[in-house]
Amino acid sequence: MAAKTDTTGGPRHVAIIMDGNGRWARARGRPRLFGHHAGARRVREVVSACPGMGVDYLTIFAFSTENWKRTQTEVAGLMSLFRRYIYKEMQAFVAENVRVRFIGDRPRLDEKLRALMDEAEQMTGHCTGINLTIALNYGGRDEVARATKRLARDVAAGRLDPEDVDLETLPRYLDTHVLPDPDLVIRTSGEARISNFLLWQSAYAEYEFIDTLWPDFTREIFVDLLRNYGARERRFGAVTA
Ligand code: FPP
Repeated sequence: MAAKTDTTGGPRHVAIIMDGNGRWARARGRPRLFGHHAGARRVREVVSACPGMGVDYLTIFAFSTENWKRTQTEVAGLMSLFRRYIYKEMQAFVAENVRVRFIGDRPRLDEKLRALMDEAEQMTGHCTGINLTIALNYGGRDEVARATKRLARDVAAGRLDPEDVDLETLPRYLDTHVLPDPDLVIRTSGEARISNFLLWQSAYAEYEFIDTLWPDFTREIFVDLLRNYGARERRFGAVTA
């Protein structure tokens, strides 16, 4: 049982780039997929830490639009892991009142996986606890391009006046339209890059780049990062007195 924590001023929406599975596996002389399986087991620990820490939204980067460039074996293994993971975890998500959503470009994903994603979204649609969003075949630029296409269609069909397009308009077309912007973005494994994750949404997010490889990420590390965030001052471009 985790110690009771002061959640005042903590982030409401945390996004995580779960990096380092491959290196973790290599360090153990095992194939990369071994690391991905170990990484998948870490997700539940982080999800279950959220309610007690005041985190209402958790968004995790599971597969990027660039990850198709990996070997066929790794891509197929990851797709199979996602299918099994969603199938296995669905009941647990409902039991823990976790509402699951997916963001990313779905048509390129296989039919069976897409059906499981739809089912998980439907089955957890009534859940009112934490909002877990899994980015699968997601890329920030791809998302903005798809959003722009939909926006352009609305303009062409006369449903949207170009003069009315402002900072509030584009986010309504993004995959994340029902989510608040992330307050804190965490990336594991020592790389200080955002790798095309939530580009529009993270404009004012705080970032934490930590050396821990994702399969070694623990609830304690997560809680520490949330506490650090509480100690920071966010100004959103303004000046404080
Ligand atoms: C990055 O590590 C990780 C991925 C591309 C896959 C992320 C997937 C998981 C954590 C597991 C499954 C998640 C869910 C939601 C079931 P890497 O392979 O780039 O590691 P490396 O940089 O050390 O090579």
